[in-house]
Amino acid sequence: MAAALTATLPSSPAAASPINGGSTSHFLACPSRLRNGGGRLRVSTTDTAVSAEPAAPVKAAKVSKKQDEGVVTNKYRPKEPYVGRCLLNTRLTGDNAPGETWHMVFSTEGEIPYREGQSIGVIADGEDKNGKPHKLRLYSIASSAIGDFGDSKTVSLCVKRLVYTNDQGEIVKGVCSNFLCDLKPGSEVKITGPVGKEMLMPKDPNATIIMLATGTGIAPFRSFLWKMFFEEHEDYKFNGLAWLFLGVPTSDTLLYKEEFEKMTEIGGDNFRLDFAVSREQTNAAGEKMYIQTRMAEYKEELWEMLKKDNTYVYMCGLRGMEKGIDDIMIDLAAKDGIDWIDYKKQLKKAEQWNVEVY
Ligand SMILES: Cc1cc2nc3c(=O)[nH]c(=O)nc-3n(C[C@H](O)[C@H](O)[C@H](O)COP(=O)(O)OP(=O)(O)OC[C@H]3O[C@@H](n4cnc5c(N)ncnc54)[C@H](O)[C@@H]3O)c2cc1C
Ligand SMILES: NC(=O)c1ccc[n+]([C@@H]2O[C@H](COP(=O)([O-])OP(=O)(O)OC[C@H]3O[C@@H](n4cnc5c(N)ncnc54)[C@H](OP(=O)(O)O)[C@@H]3O)[C@@H](O)[C@H]2O)c1
Repeated sequence: MAAALTATLPSSPAAASPINGGSTSHFLACPSRLRNGGGRLRVSTTDTAVSAEPAAPVKAAKVSKKQDEGVVTNKYRPKEPYVGRCLLNTRLTGDNAPGETWHMVFSTEGEIPYREGQSIGVIADGEDKNGKPHKLRLYSIASSAIGDFGDSKTVSLCVKRLVYTNDQGEIVKGVCSNFLCDLKPGSEVKITGPVGKEMLMPKDPNATIIMLATGTGIAPFRSFLWKMFFEEHEDYKFNGLAWLFLGVPTSDTLLYKEEFEKMTEIGGDNFRLDFAVSREQTNAAGEKMYIQTRMAEYKEELWEMLKKDNTYVYMCGLRGMEKGIDDIMIDLAAKDGIDWIDYKKQLKKAEQWNVEVY
């Protein structure tokens, strides 16, 4: 395990204060950019030379990230979960936001040895309508492997409170998300896992990593980005390009905005950040600004990146988001005589196209 420290932020996440208790001041930090419909915070000078080759680039064989012996899965199972404690639980979204999203930190005492990109299961207290314990729900881990306190003894989540109206007009609250969002510091929480290898980070510190998140799908990317820009590791120093696209409904729901803005200062040309605020921004054609709408502004550049062997795309959040992104790529690939769906299969095989949507 690499020695690591949280170099650029105070060791307490409360002090680091991405987590601002629902204040909307984070939006006021860059109002003109969002109001003008542009979310780009930093322009990089990455090489984007146009290739004239008509055929799909051939993918070089790589060592699979999934073969890494140090990656632990299923250490804790539902019959004998790890019982941690909630150390902190803070609302990320503003008072007028459509829905609530919370950031929470649980103690693990180092017993849940997770990697960036993995998930944990949570079993809510109580019983289901048949008198059985609730089934576990999965949550993407939002902290880097050393955790928000930098001591490898905590795990953090980013959870949206599920509340909806059913066909009978009744308000229904999701079992586990409400259990989590209501957790008070000191309360116990039953945890399983860690699980998942799809979203593990590429090993190459010089890679181009394109991260596509909708809503709480930001969780694994916060974990990646903390490792890249807020920590120092003996065996990892990121020197590639990390490019985050985050799609949310309103500026009040721009999760971890201050943290990412801090990263643009620290990361320089190594970090690019683009927001798509769907209910406040539109493109030139007046269409709703979804993540794929924002990506379309850079489509040629993105396509050139995707032809390279060391570009990795990660997508997390709403299930529906992948189709919109495919739609952009189909036309771009076709211009080069490449069938996007076939090429995407190659990218997936080479672990360059990683998707965890729900
Ligand atoms: C790999 C993975 C990672 C995940 N990571 C995260 C994460 O980081 N953060 C996060 O917040 N969530 C995450 N989720 C989702 C999470 O697992 C739960 O599904 C979510 O929190 C809802 O669980 P719940 O117990 O609150 O709701 P439940 O009590 O399980 O209720 C959910 C059910 O309610 C019904 N329902 C939901 N919405 C509606 C609607 N509008 N109309 C009618 N019926 C509806 C559906 O039947 C749905 O299955 C992840 C899921 C997966 C698979
Ligand atoms: N690993 C995982 O599998 C994982 C991890 C975390 C979360 N999740 C799940 O991901 C979902 C995220 O929900 P959330 O409530 O956190 O998000 P949210 O705050 O509602 O934000 C989602 C954003 O995506 C937009 N959107 C809607 N349809 C879209 C589409 N087809 N393509 C692109 N963008 C679209 C929404 O726009 P409008 O609302 O304005 O239309 C909104 O701006 C939840 O279902 C959560 O359970 C899954």
